[in-house]
Amino acid sequence: MKPIRTAIVGTGSVARLHAEALRAIAGETGEVELVAAADTDAARLGAFAAEFGVAARYPDAATLLEEARVDLVSICTPPAAHVPVALAALASGCDVVVEKPATPTLAEFDRLIDAEKATGRFVATVSQHRFGSGAQRVRELLRSGVAGRPLLALCETTWFRDQAYFDVEWRGRWETEGGGTTMGHGVHQIDLMLSVLGPWTSVNALARRQARRTETEDVSLAHVAFDGGAVASVVNSAVSPREESYLRFDFEHASVEVRHLYGYTDADWVLTPAPGHEEEVRAVWEAGPWGVGSGHLAQFREVMAALREGAAPPVSTKDARPTVQLVAGIYASAFGGTPVCPEDLGPASPHHHRMQGDGPAW
Ligand SMILES: NC(=O)c1ccc[n+]([C@@H]2O[C@H](COP(=O)([O-])OP(=O)(O)OC[C@H]3O[C@@H](n4cnc5c(N)ncnc54)[C@H](O)[C@@H]3O)[C@@H](O)[C@H]2O)c1
Repeated sequence: MKPIRTAIVGTGSVARLHAEALRAIAGETGEVELVAAADTDAARLGAFAAEFGVAARYPDAATLLEEARVDLVSICTPPAAHVPVALAALASGCDVVVEKPATPTLAEFDRLIDAEKATGRFVATVSQHRFGSGAQRVRELLRSGVAGRPLLALCETTWFRDQAYFDVEWRGRWETEGGGTTMGHGVHQIDLMLSVLGPWTSVNALARRQARRTETEDVSLAHVAFDGGAVASVVNSAVSPREESYLRFDFEHASVEVRHLYGYTDADWVLTPAPGHEEEVRAVWEAGPWGVGSGHLAQFREVMAALREGAAPPVSTKDARPTVQLVAGIYASAFGGTPVCPEDLGPASPHHHRMQGDGPAW
């Protein structure tokens, strides 16, 4: 079995999580190899390459794609560079794993889908919280039918980011990040919620800039309705000193909750069956799977397994698009002052082309 030759483009903070995951999988199965890295910042590239033993170093993605002959490109640049690098990688015959948010706009997301179709290669978005065993057990509760219908979800990302965090040039700007705390932070929990509840049908939202000097929101609140009748309350914040990521699903026959910050283990999940349903709900929950914490390693293992099979690696563009679309819907509703449906966010909507549409009212 030839290892999948992988390159990382953008060697800042999150690239280390990619490199550690790739190194772990190389040790477990030998099916992947980190062979090259690129960054426009030579000092960061040098430090990263030395830390992870990467010999082939390039000043930009184009040179890397020309010279390094890789199979898979992991894109860890700030969001505005995701699409140009991904399109170049696909055109060179590579598959792509791209950090969240895959694209700062829906229009660019659709360009990725078109490029996937044109090249026959794949784009996966990083959304690592889908991949812990806790999330798999929730989906299994639902699939098995023992949990009954989903009725209500709470999806809260209450984090704290100081002013210095937003002073980094690409953060908290519409052009370069595609939004504020909703797109930058809440997107993890929102994506996990959508992976359980399925298609959303409408959203009613508020966004505010409460405390930070940024172009974007530092707080948003949304009420979301789902196909099948479930409803959710979504709160995103970058100004909450007691930080938490909290997700709660109330099904007809059980509540399931997870509290964590940047990643969960099995110990972070709590199951509460409804009276009269203890036995069958606990039986499915306890049947597993168990033992996998959420994180890049969990996702990358599944990405590699899919690529070996020639299948679309998770999270595929089909599965990731509703998340980008719901973030666009939150902004469209917050800035337009009306409820928004997915159908409202087509190419005729300014929110299709820019998350802020024609601009927030502040
Ligand atoms: N999944 C997660 O948990 C998670 C966590 C943090 C960040 N992220 C995402 O990862 C991405 C990067 O975030 P970060 O915090 O690592 O940023 P960072 O600023 O620490 O690193 C980005 C790196 O990309 C380089 N770069 C910029 N433009 C480039 C280009 N065109 N070609 C090559 N290199 C380029 C920069 O020099 C820098 O070294 C963002 O999309 C962010 O939202 C995801």
